Amino acid sequence: MNFKGKDFLKLLDFTSEEIGALIDLAASLKAKKKAGVPHRLCEGKNIALIFEKTSTRTRCSFEVAAYDLGMGVTYLDSNGSQIGKKESIADTARVLGSIYDGIEYRGYGQELVEELAKYADVPVWNGLTNEFHPTQILADFLTIREQFGKLRGLKFVYMGDARYNMGNSLMVGCAKMGMDFTACCPAKYFPDAALIAECESIAAETGAKLHFEPDVDKALVGADVIYTDVWVSMGEPVEVWQERISDLAPYQVNTEAMAKTGKGETVFMHCLPSYHDMKTQVGREMGEKFGRTAMEVTDEVFESAQSVVFREAENRMHTIKAVMAATLCDWEAL
Ligand code: CP
Ligand code: NVA
Repeated sequence: MNFKGKDFLKLLDFTSEEIGALIDLAASLKAKKKAGVPHRLCEGKNIALIFEKTSTRTRCSFEVAAYDLGMGVTYLDSNGSQIGKKESIADTARVLGSIYDGIEYRGYGQELVEELAKYADVPVWNGLTNEFHPTQILADFLTIREQFGKLRGLKFVYMGDARYNMGNSLMVGCAKMGMDFTACCPAKYFPDAALIAECESIAAETGAKLHFEPDVDKALVGADVIYTDVWVSMGEPVEVWQERISDLAPYQVNTEAMAKTGKGETVFMHCLPSYHDMKTQVGREMGEKFGRTAMEVTDEVFESAQSVVFREAENRMHTIKAVMAATLCDWEAL
């Protein structure tokens, strides 16, 4: 294994063995943290966190992981720097790359994080783009492995808008790790055909299976994991809510959907944040406007014993720590 100096931009850039090794490293760093064993593996280094979109989990995970590894952190939001408005991504990359040891970027198009990585000669980590959210998938897979003891062969069903960052990245991750992936949604929400083709060829190597199934009853039979995400993502216009609700309401994860798997041990997962009740500003506004009390998942499922969403959220920190340590240190030192 050699990740030192590499960027972490999308899972397509990594082999199954490398993804597995990063999850193993995250599990070992998690055990150290729980046991109170110091692991200041990157002592004296500094990183910059660029967030052009808002965040709770990803920002806090990068910050706490960096502190645990002995690093200093600078947070730059969309208003607090020159990025994009007065300075190009390429110029920003060369400036920050000369000051910091690593750069996290959350923003819009995947091409922006790729551009940043091209011009910065330090590791660049993708903290979410419209197309991909690779650090989230490592946390999801660590959580699934903790639950089932394996990834290979598990039946994973993604309900909702499968053509955005979460659907895309989960399909890639499942293809890489030899899982049985189903995107359950209307055909217009299936991932991009070129990405499906790329994942099909990965699946041919790894033994993964990929399905695209609008029929909820067929998709959910035998599912080990049911995963969903918000129906309207950050940066999308408010006008799309109406169409999304009418298209995706049949794909809400509710008690009936969980029962359709025929398995008591099925887990519910969500990257969060989630519109499972009326206790958020957007959830309340959209709920009142469209006569709903929840969107992509009901409160009942979200709060049920089958829901592992908060362990999944905690695992963001351990997996992000693994990505930073692996790309900043010699593998043998970890
Ligand atoms: N899941 C996730 O990326 O959450 P944040 O938007 O809070 O970072
Ligand atoms: N699809 C969501 C994921 C948030 C973690 C978004 O992009 O807003």
